[in-house]
Amino acid sequence: MSKSIEFMQNVKSLKDIDIANKRVLIRVDFNVPMDSDFNISDDTRIREAIPTINYCIDNGAEHIILVSHLGRPKGKDSKYSLKHIIKRLERLLDKSVVFLERIENFPSLVATLDSKSIILLENIRYYAGEEKNDENLSRQLASICDVFINDAFGTSHRKHSSTYGIAEFAKEKVAGLLLEKEINSFSKALANPMKPVLLIVGGSKVSSKLALLNNILDVVDKIIIGGAMSNTFLKAVGYDMQKSLVEDDLLDEALNILRHAKTKKVKIYLPVDVVSTDNIKESKHIKITPVQDVPEDYMVVDVGPASSKLFAEVVRDSNTIIWNGPIGIYEIGNFSRGTFNLAHHVADTYAFSLIGGGDTADAIDKAGEIDNMSFISTGGGASLELLEGKILSAFEVLDKK
Ligand code: 3PG
Repeated sequence: MSKSIEFMQNVKSLKDIDIANKRVLIRVDFNVPMDSDFNISDDTRIREAIPTINYCIDNGAEHIILVSHLGRPKGKDSKYSLKHIIKRLERLLDKSVVFLERIENFPSLVATLDSKSIILLENIRYYAGEEKNDENLSRQLASICDVFINDAFGTSHRKHSSTYGIAEFAKEKVAGLLLEKEINSFSKALANPMKPVLLIVGGSKVSSKLALLNNILDVVDKIIIGGAMSNTFLKAVGYDMQKSLVEDDLLDEALNILRHAKTKKVKIYLPVDVVSTDNIKESKHIKITPVQDVPEDYMVVDVGPASSKLFAEVVRDSNTIIWNGPIGIYEIGNFSRGTFNLAHHVADTYAFSLIGGGDTADAIDKAGEIDNMSFISTGGGASLELLEGKILSAFEVLDKK
């Protein structure tokens, strides 16, 4: 784990090069959530890109070209246009931003601009070549800049033209300030942590977190497992989970993880009591029972109060806490208590707390504790791959120090 982090910390940073009078292309991740009227509900990712853009302005870059994706459009669907984020970007930068519809128009547009302009390219996923890491698109992107800066941490696990292919043809390719900040925070939690280290893992599927669970046993001292994931573990050790979401094909795998953890002396904490209902939507009938007594035809939707107390003890005794995945259906008021209580307990510690994944950050925000966490990663899939011990693709192709 520390080897992969070390590799990523060894890529050249924007601060290591001279960008004065150079055209810089910054790959940012402006993939932000919006409602049906295009109001941005969480602009964290735009805010987190501002320091790198300002650094380029302050250090005399000739033009700054911003490239991002938004959503997963199939073709040129106007719903995913980056036009919708310009106002917010201009407000946060306190500068005007020029919109570039197509890369082909770059030379004619740039001829009309003053130097030191900030240009935002339309959604890069409107190009069929982007997700195929197409060589022509990669060359085209590289041809409009002198320096390629990757600051899109949330997309750094993707081998796409604007995150990966472009680097082969760019003269200089470096990490932006956000990429650096993310990797340094993960290093603090994974490569060089203050012990004891606790992993809190939740969400619905063991299958999506198998690689993480197997890999992280060398790093952590304790793991709290919650969410629907814990149903699979509880069933594997013999409890009747009734109608709860369970991955039956992973029962043996769950037992293997428990055994493996034991040999590594990693303690695993599962819920001891649960909240369950016979109908999630109506949620009229709700019961709190020990895990042994989930009522017939009910499904587990949250951890119970005894589990919250147990988890509070585990949290209190940790110096580093990594949290990925809510431990109940926090979006529904009646089933949010377990996750919200846990957020309060983590907030009450002096531990270094690292939060990965959009859902986890959203749950902690709804619990009112977002400002009390040490670091909130801007990457969901990317942070999961880091916890799995992988080197993120985007880092492979950047210049080394
Ligand atoms: C994210 O939201 O996790 C990133 O922006 C990456 O988006 P993607 O999963 O569509 O590649």
